[in-house]
Amino acid sequence: MPNPTSHTAGPHDFGSPHPDPSDLAALLADGYLGSVWLTGQAPSRDLRRGRYTPESMKHPGKMLPTIPRYAIRTYTNPGDVVLDPMAGIGTTIIEAMRLGRHGIGVEYEAEWVAKAADNIRHTVQAGVPGRGEIYHGDSTALPSLLPASLHGQVALVITSPPYGSSTHGHVRTPGPRRGKVRKINHKYGSVSNLAYRSHGELADGFTEILAGCRAVLRPGGHVVVTARPYRRHGELIDIPGMVVAAGVNAGLELVEECIALICGVRDGVIIPRASFFQQKNIRDAIATGDPQWLVQHEDVVILRAL
Ligand SMILES: C[S@@+](CC[C@H](N)C(=O)[O-])C[C@H]1O[C@@H](n2cnc3c(N)ncnc32)[C@H](O)[C@@H]1O
Repeated sequence: MPNPTSHTAGPHDFGSPHPDPSDLAALLADGYLGSVWLTGQAPSRDLRRGRYTPESMKHPGKMLPTIPRYAIRTYTNPGDVVLDPMAGIGTTIIEAMRLGRHGIGVEYEAEWVAKAADNIRHTVQAGVPGRGEIYHGDSTALPSLLPASLHGQVALVITSPPYGSSTHGHVRTPGPRRGKVRKINHKYGSVSNLAYRSHGELADGFTEILAGCRAVLRPGGHVVVTARPYRRHGELIDIPGMVVAAGVNAGLELVEECIALICGVRDGVIIPRASFFQQKNIRDAIATGDPQWLVQHEDVVILRAL
């Protein structure tokens, strides 16, 4: 890990800049374990309650709020600009605002732009120290979407590419007339969304987005991308590997690869936080003789502008 630049104490705070590496309990309390980020100590719905509009829950691929919170504290200072070029309902923007940073997002789908704008208004009303903005557009042309005054000013990009809907979504349980268990809120609205492109097209589009990020980052600014491998028709698709290649091809330097836990850890024991469909997919795979495991972390790829 690079030296964290700023830390303040508070609930779900991930602590002091230089924890004693020999004190495991302190490291756990701090949320810091080398390249393992202990970001799953509270369930997503608890982290969002009161801070995000209930409508936000409809987005199929939201980031766990503690992940941008940890990255923002580690890589930026108050007043810095933090950008998410694939902003969804604005998790990066909202967490940046609450930490006194200037959060900026770009999102392709009008529905999520509107929900991100609602979350920004809700956060402003809470009297937080930072500012937030959301832009509607295709981030493969990122520099042209953002005001020239921001070019070269962004301290940190945090984002996650859209892919594989098989583990996303919520459960509609069967009622007397509703039939069998159904999945809802697991798809994006537009077929032009990068989520529906082939792996090669997603890689090309994401490389263009990271090249645009490089153009607006300040020298030494960081890029934090969360992703995880997923299975398409049984084949394992290496999204984190695609992210590293896209970053390097976009002219960024690879700093390190970490993992961010989405499960809790209590007294040395893992507390899994798997969705209904994650559990179902694993059970189905095991039943067919494919020994899969529940994935309880996101890969985090950290890159830097030279
Ligand atoms: C994994 S989600 C990110 C969610 C976000 N981090 C949050 O917590 O709400 C990826 C988002 O990228 C958006 N997207 C896809 N293609 C895009 C593009 N070309 N430009 C901007 N956004 C895009 C999708 O609509 C989706 O909302």
